[in-house]
Amino acid sequence: MTVDPQEGAQILRGHIEETAAATSKPFAVNVPVGRDSSGRVLPVSAAYIDAVLQARADDRTIADQLRVIITSAGYPGEFRERISASGLVHAHKVGSTRQAVKAVAAGVDAVIASGYEMGGHTHAAPVHTFVLVPNVTQSVDVPVVLSGGARDGRSLAAALALGADAIAMGTRFIATEDNVDWHPAYREIILNAGEGDDVIFPAVYGPARGLRNQGVKELFRILESGELDDEAVTRWKDEALVRAQRHGDVENGLVAAGQVASGINDIVAISRFIPALVEDAARILAGLTATVRTKEHAVPSDPTTQSQTKQR
Ligand SMILES: Cc1cc2nc3c(=O)[nH]c(=O)nc-3n(C[C@H](O)[C@H](O)[C@H](O)COP(=O)(O)O)c2cc1C
Repeated sequence: MTVDPQEGAQILRGHIEETAAATSKPFAVNVPVGRDSSGRVLPVSAAYIDAVLQARADDRTIADQLRVIITSAGYPGEFRERISASGLVHAHKVGSTRQAVKAVAAGVDAVIASGYEMGGHTHAAPVHTFVLVPNVTQSVDVPVVLSGGARDGRSLAAALALGADAIAMGTRFIATEDNVDWHPAYREIILNAGEGDDVIFPAVYGPARGLRNQGVKELFRILESGELDDEAVTRWKDEALVRAQRHGDVENGLVAAGQVASGINDIVAISRFIPALVEDAARILAGLTATVRTKEHAVPSDPTTQSQTKQR
């Protein structure tokens, strides 16, 4: 993508048309809602949302297929009315219970609760998935998707146990046979990553998580030296991501990835991986009921008396 709003909107429209032509299935578009230092929505974010709504308004087939918009990065309140009027299902990605409650109050249809261990843009406050998700599920009455650290059927089973309705994976999908756009070296470095190989660095909309390498070191050096202005730094980051993704320079580029990279050891094919993941989750959940021993006189806890999440 690009920082120029009109050019960005055109590129996004092209991707939407390409996707609609490549499948008859429904699909979603993700738009990060960035803000400048005074809190105003970035023109590029507004242009992307306009492009999504316009594509649906212009083309009946696109409207039938493009059914979901996922906003992330920042509060999407300004866009709620138009998104809702267009008939799109609106899911918003959050990193805290406060953000989840605020998004639901604004009318979003679902929230994606993404914990701090996630890959790519993460959140300013470090709340990890295992704490965040039950906090959110007990605080909102819309479907909740767990994101951050999920990798397999065990993750889906755990998500359901925490009160979530689904999982959304990011890093896992990098190491797939289907990811033919990215350089094989990127997949390879995900397979080789171990615990502790990840690092947080300042990205475009806030902090992001990626693998520690020379590229991240260089970014911190550039930021400390002050040798580039804000726009040039953003351009450097964009180019560094492309360097890793497209050209396979995973040492000097920026390699966005989550902590779960440490648990990813194989390249999978999505068409087989997802059905197997769901089967695994069902088997795990069925098997677990037998392993939990309850005391004869125990009284199950009343969900209405469960501790409430304290929001700040
Ligand atoms: C390389 C990469 C790029 C990402 N880009 C976006 C993005 O553009 N918008 C967004 O909302 N999330 C983005 N994410 C976050 C994912 O959608 C997802 O929430 C996250 O990866 C979940 O954590 P996991 O990596 O542990 O699975 C990205 C993640 C990765 C690893």
